[in-house]
Amino acid sequence: MLIYQATASAPVNIACIKYWGKRDTKLILPTNSSLSVTLDQDHLRSTTTSRADPTFKKDRLWLNGTEEEIKAGGRLATCIAELKKQRRQVEENHPNIPIISNYAVHICSHNNFPTAAGLASSASGFAALVASLAALYKLPATPSELSLIARQGSGSACRSLMGGFVAWEKGVREDGSDSLAIQIAPREHWPDLHAVIVVVSDHKKGTSSTAGMQQTVETSALLQHRINHVVPARMTAISEAIKAKDFDKFAKITMQDSNQFHAVCLDTEPPIFYMNDVSRAIIALIVEYNRVSVAATGHLKAAYTYDAGPNAVIYAPAANIPEIINLIAHYFPQNQTFSDPFKLFTNQVPGKLPFPEGFNTQVVKKAEEGAVKGLIHTRVGDGPRVLSDSESLLGTNGLPI
Ligand code: DP6
Repeated sequence: MLIYQATASAPVNIACIKYWGKRDTKLILPTNSSLSVTLDQDHLRSTTTSRADPTFKKDRLWLNGTEEEIKAGGRLATCIAELKKQRRQVEENHPNIPIISNYAVHICSHNNFPTAAGLASSASGFAALVASLAALYKLPATPSELSLIARQGSGSACRSLMGGFVAWEKGVREDGSDSLAIQIAPREHWPDLHAVIVVVSDHKKGTSSTAGMQQTVETSALLQHRINHVVPARMTAISEAIKAKDFDKFAKITMQDSNQFHAVCLDTEPPIFYMNDVSRAIIALIVEYNRVSVAATGHLKAAYTYDAGPNAVIYAPAANIPEIINLIAHYFPQNQTFSDPFKLFTNQVPGKLPFPEGFNTQVVKKAEEGAVKGLIHTRVGDGPRVLSDSESLLGTNGLPI
């Protein structure tokens, strides 16, 4: 008997122009456009296997080994229903292909990064779910068309359907049909852009993005200014910076937009704080690192950005990464050794190298061990990949392996 199954992986993305606020919470339509860099799946990814089978009783989903409820009318159910609908249309137009749109599906998903790392997994997770079902159903849809579906799982997920540099255009239509992701440039355009994720320890449970952004929409006057007068010009300017590989312009806008996102969080009632003292100390380090560089060469060397949590993501040209890792490792000694996927520190120890000439070492105090849990070095990456059946997460019995 034929097995109808597909496995796909999808990347994480980190926004330079932040999505924060919905104008429609059911369709997940944003109040402003946003833009992100897709990170390399070789380091961070979600992998999902989807299978359709006439013997399955109902749609089921497992995430990192635990079964999750697919709530009727919820985000997961919406995405699955939309993909089944598209398969049905293909079946109607091509009477010779197997009818599988009426079978229940089993979906098994796994992230290769620990949830405890504090990295948002909903973007890569929903993107992998959509990519695997689209492969199972052999849908003739483009990544932009699939982004319309992933968007309804989690807004930022729509940007993980493509590699490189991706914009989510907010759109104007009420049905959301023009609120989709488009690729500004593929990874090959600017492969030299690397990223360091600084995993900052955080014990308290913060406000979720979904809840936090609606509080901001309802209470922040500053958000209106951001939506109407700031983001549109920044979207144009950062797209130009990416096309020209102008790191100075890219870095300046990225840092400004992270700062303004956290400013609208502070302007929310009650105020929302995502960064902590360690996050702010990392900003101070990057600001000083850039100050010294601008004084010497006129150019910025790194850009920080923060999402709805205390972790920093630092974008920089590949050549600057050893200096950046050395700085962070010096001020934030870690109990876990740096995994060093690009083999930058074969003969040296991060944290023990000399600082750039003129760097003011007093700019922050050295922290106790453990304030930073770890560093992940990655770079701009590609879009979802369809994998072979040997990578399946479901066994022959249709249950997680
Ligand atoms: C701060 O996409 O997680 O990371 O659409 O409610 O699922 P929902 O929110 P989500 O929000 C992400 C917010 C952000 C900024 C960004 O990624 O653009």
